[in-house]
Amino acid sequence: MCGIVGYVGRDQALPIVLEGLRRLEYRGYDSAGVAIVDGGLTVAKRAGRLADLEAVLEPSALGGRLGVGHTRWATHGAPTDRNAHPHVDCTGRLAVIHNGIIENFQGLRARLAKEGHELASETDTEVVAHLIEERLRADGLGLADAVRRTVRDLEGAYALVVCSADEPDLLVGVKVASPLVVGLGDGETILASDVPAVLGRTERAIPLAEGQVVVATAAGASVTDLEGRRARPRPIRIDWDVARAQKGGYDSFMRKEIDEQPAAIRDTLVGRVVDGRIVLDELRVSDDALREVTKVFVVACGTAFHSGLVAKYAIEHWTRLPVEIEIASEFRYRDPVLGPDTLTLAVSQSGETIDTLEAARHARRQGSHLVAVTNTVGSSLAREADAVLYTHAGPEIGVAATKTFATQMVSQHLVALYLAQARGTKFPEEIADVLAELAALPAKVQRAIGLDDRVRAIAERYRDARDVLFIGRHTGYPAALEGALKLKELSYLHAEGYPAGELKHGPIALVEDGVPVVAVATRCHVYPKMLSNIQEVKARGAEVIAVVTEGDVEAAALADHVLEVPETPELLAPVVVTVPLQLLAYHIARLRGLDVDRPRNLAKSVTVE
Ligand code: AGP
Repeated sequence: MCGIVGYVGRDQALPIVLEGLRRLEYRGYDSAGVAIVDGGLTVAKRAGRLADLEAVLEPSALGGRLGVGHTRWATHGAPTDRNAHPHVDCTGRLAVIHNGIIENFQGLRARLAKEGHELASETDTEVVAHLIEERLRADGLGLADAVRRTVRDLEGAYALVVCSADEPDLLVGVKVASPLVVGLGDGETILASDVPAVLGRTERAIPLAEGQVVVATAAGASVTDLEGRRARPRPIRIDWDVARAQKGGYDSFMRKEIDEQPAAIRDTLVGRVVDGRIVLDELRVSDDALREVTKVFVVACGTAFHSGLVAKYAIEHWTRLPVEIEIASEFRYRDPVLGPDTLTLAVSQSGETIDTLEAARHARRQGSHLVAVTNTVGSSLAREADAVLYTHAGPEIGVAATKTFATQMVSQHLVALYLAQARGTKFPEEIADVLAELAALPAKVQRAIGLDDRVRAIAERYRDARDVLFIGRHTGYPAALEGALKLKELSYLHAEGYPAGELKHGPIALVEDGVPVVAVATRCHVYPKMLSNIQEVKARGAEVIAVVTEGDVEAAALADHVLEVPETPELLAPVVVTVPLQLLAYHIARLRGLDVDRPRNLAKSVTVE
């Protein structure tokens, strides 16, 4: 998620803007830029780190007392110099920085280009600068009114900050769904996408409310709604230190990212469903080619692999295509039967995991259509694939994958439904029903997050367990695998996930008095079988923690502890069911005094074999 900083005041803007951007680095970024007003407008931007930007800054940027800065986490257009923010209008005197997504930018872009505007980037943001330019020129408005008029034409979620060399004393900021904070200093005002950027300069801030516009000057800030009606927001006092502020007040990035799952799922669905049909513009494999596909392969590692297992169940059920899913490091060293009639999904949060990358390359060399599912625009995997489906989860800082797991599953559900749509294996109404269920997921995940206190109490009891088993059937099985992986990587307890039916073939020997068994037992077609498996482990002394569907008294009667989650169709259920399992791992690790963001021996992105 991009970082935004705007400064107007009596000091030099550039050092303050750069320091603000440094404080926002934790949000993740792949390019950075600044625009400083000092008579004219000086813009500098670069792909890479802030240091790369600082290396190209002109001395002319040093004088101004008003400026904006941005760290970009690419969503539309690769992370290049050209796509970095700020973006300017045709006059080069107006600059815009943006966090979020302008959903209708393609239509706006086409119109602007037709009308003679020169668009220099592939981003959604650039259209905003040109739209404001139009309002300024055609309607003779001042900057603040021109911005207010422009945002009426924008769809999506965004925070914007705009400055112009023609109104050198003010910044205009807008908040529609993406955050924007106004720091009120002594003779200065700072606009920022997050609190850390204003800390150290002021403790008074106004977090803008939905649909508010701020006009900031050195003397203060005036806030209105989008129609220009004056609002009177009360400033709050911020007494966080920088580290705490970067985590939004959470004790860890992981916990914050668990809470971000509803929004991440929503962002991943945005713009991909129109009138009940799936529109995956980025899936640049033709429907004809998709109709010729006879087999699908999924390659991935770790958590991404678990998301692929869920996808296997969904693709096979909705399209009747056989799906082979394999751990990437195994796939790449065998001789899978691939060809032009196969489709390979390579799933990777980072897009840089070497095993997944090599497996994907192998598939492509053998003629398979390669679709990447990744969270990282411009990553190696994204660049090398025939098509990319981005998970719009935003940067994930915690080493343990949480919100990217949820969005990997949702993205692959979309691919599965798209295949069903293209191949005609599901009626449009059936697809529309599943899409409605996908749209309902954020609210259900939110309810599951509400189990936090209950999960913590359970974690207290099992914080020193020696072994923990996770069992599930059908899509409960990948959820069990993911629960076990989260627990072992964060708490260093021994945990294993098993298909519940497999227990009797060996693992049940591990069950003795007091061994905790986490059973994924939500209502689905194999639910009665799960109840039998719970009884089997109970009979051998296990203490069962069951994740069940809300209101289920039958499973509750068998288990020692129950965690109730909202009813969800079984192919989508892992998105909801995994939440209490993430929380369990988080709480046990915290109770054991461990760093959940940086578990030992692990790297966020595994770029060596
Ligand atoms: C999950 O919590 C892990 N951090 C790990 O299993 C991860 O999912 C795996 O290394 C794959 O990473 P990728 O999605 O970036 O390819």
